[in-house]
Amino acid sequence: MKTVKSILELKEIVAKQKTNGKKIGFVPTMGYLHEGHLSLMRASKNKTDFTIVSIFVNPTQFGPKEDLATYPRDLKRDQALCESVGVDLIFAPEVSEMYPEGYSTYVDCEGNITKQLCGATRPTHFKGVTSVVSKLFNIVQPNFAFFGQKDAQQVAIIEKMVRELNFPIEIVPCPIVREADGLAMSSRNTYLSEDARKEALVLHKALLEAKTLIENGETDTKVLINEMTNTIKSSKLAVIDYVQVVDTQSLESIATLEDEFLIALAVKFGNTRLIDNYRGQVGGF
Ligand code: PAF
Repeated sequence: MKTVKSILELKEIVAKQKTNGKKIGFVPTMGYLHEGHLSLMRASKNKTDFTIVSIFVNPTQFGPKEDLATYPRDLKRDQALCESVGVDLIFAPEVSEMYPEGYSTYVDCEGNITKQLCGATRPTHFKGVTSVVSKLFNIVQPNFAFFGQKDAQQVAIIEKMVRELNFPIEIVPCPIVREADGLAMSSRNTYLSEDARKEALVLHKALLEAKTLIENGETDTKVLINEMTNTIKSSKLAVIDYVQVVDTQSLESIATLEDEFLIALAVKFGNTRLIDNYRGQVGGF
């Protein structure tokens, strides 16, 4: 398994694979891989002939006060994990390769979809994501790209971008992968103190409570949000950013559950901001 740092070299390898009729699967990541990422790679291996993983901590999606400098990085460890699931190629460019001196072109989805949920407190985040994902799509030219549903807003925005900019790529959303005790896997979990790690379980607990209420017929999202908020506040360390029930496409808040819905939350434990969600359909259990 090769690790390539140059865009030109990557493009040459992809062109050769495509000439040989291979379907390319792509898993974009910021590294410090965990089981959630590996599940995306396995999904790609199952569906495609040649799996490429990018490892790039993208500076343009971090706000000025966010954790770009401290974001965990370990390329050797990531390479071993990719190898263990049979990834064909890693693309790990330097920042200067992706954003050379004078770089100034961005892809920005201006719709409300980027302003809701995480966009409310991270106003520049999704512009950084859509810009780097567009660049990566143009470089890798995959047939399929695999994204984790934990970042449900990111998936919805990328699906919209792919539709509206006519990228010839199929987006494959993959289920959230959790630790045995229910915490959604995230590279940022490594920041949590022992106490915060224990208390962060309130997030999954709150989502499960909402799911049970819905299964028992509750459709009023205010009731759901109140219940979840109370559960999360039972943790002294938790500071809620948002707890919302939204439409799965527009990500606009909804008052009553009718069809498909997304319950999304973001909560800070110390300096660590965690997100989690539950996507469901009324009567679809
Ligand atoms: O989900 C992530 O890790 C990042 O947002 C992505 C898609 C790799 C873009 O940098």
